[in-house]
Amino acid sequence: MVEYRLALPGADAEVEGQDVITGLRQTPKALPPKYFYDDQGSRLFEHITALPEYYPTRTERGILLAQGSAISQRVGACDLVELGSGSASKTRILLDAYQQQGTPLHYVPVDVSGGMLEDTAHQLLRDYPALTVHGVVGTYDAALAHLPAAKFPRRMVAFIGSTLGNLPPQRCTAFMQQVAQALEPGDYFLLGVDLHKDRALLEAAYNDAQGVTAAFNLNMLAHLNWRFQGNFDLSQFRHVAFYNEGDRQIEMHIESLRDQTVTLKDLDLTVPFGAGERLLSEISRKFDLDQLGQDLQRHGLQVLHTFSDPQGWFALLLCQRP
Ligand code: SAH
Ligand code: AVI
Repeated sequence: MVEYRLALPGADAEVEGQDVITGLRQTPKALPPKYFYDDQGSRLFEHITALPEYYPTRTERGILLAQGSAISQRVGACDLVELGSGSASKTRILLDAYQQQGTPLHYVPVDVSGGMLEDTAHQLLRDYPALTVHGVVGTYDAALAHLPAAKFPRRMVAFIGSTLGNLPPQRCTAFMQQVAQALEPGDYFLLGVDLHKDRALLEAAYNDAQGVTAAFNLNMLAHLNWRFQGNFDLSQFRHVAFYNEGDRQIEMHIESLRDQTVTLKDLDLTVPFGAGERLLSEISRKFDLDQLGQDLQRHGLQVLHTFSDPQGWFALLLCQRP
């Protein structure tokens, strides 16, 4: 059975598009990465995950393959709330472990990309006959503030793929507090994070030879065009990505190739861009495990196990609210 729910309007502090207005009026310009993910953006992200340069997905998949059954045994029957679930391709490893153990699971995927969420939910129901699914189309904030009633005494909130890295430090702190508040004592939090490593490896992962990441980055403008009646000309912008070693984050920017003015009719917004001006479209933080463990602990999330790959590139942390 699949049920859908739109996250409640008003649960987000933002009015629709207000974050675009704020982001495009500020200096330097910046937009939230959730605007990557319309149907085309979700497809492009899936393509990225299979690129030879993009190591995070295959590395995390390896960790899940090695540890999935240990995690499912430890957690047992639960409501699995996955934030930013996307295609749930790695989540299937956990679903397989539950299925093999004959342990029931209720899956609650949460994603702003409604088309991807719906397709994924239907596919999972076809492939896992014992699974029940309750999809939530909406933001992490809205979903955490209004989680659907639990079916099992335990919940596990999962946030894998290093999507935590796309939140700036302040938002990251608020997010950990929101997760801890949404959990009852004894509930679990499964977190996948990418770790600090050699600059060349990192920069290659965000500047792939086929140009898929560039298309993903510029697709944000195409998304704004259809969503807010905009007139961005994608050929007049370019993708820029580099590792900011001081802040330990990849930064993705969209750079204007000339002086130009863009209008977003639905937002009553006209925005000037100078030649060479950059808009920050995403940060992707690369974590230090000691620091992250301390931050989680400080926000009431105790790290029970840290699983990593042989190269120490990526980590999966199983945490619990004590
Ligand atoms: N977890 C998957 C997908 C990661 S891509 C993986 O590990 O491969 C990030 C996902 O989060 C996308 O599916 C995107 O649509 C979703 N997303 C981005 N910002 C979001 C937000 N603010 N609230 C909810 N979902 C969001
Ligand atoms: C979803 N997120 C963790 C990806 C990342 O690596 O930060 C998004 C992405 N951006 C460019 N490539 C992939």
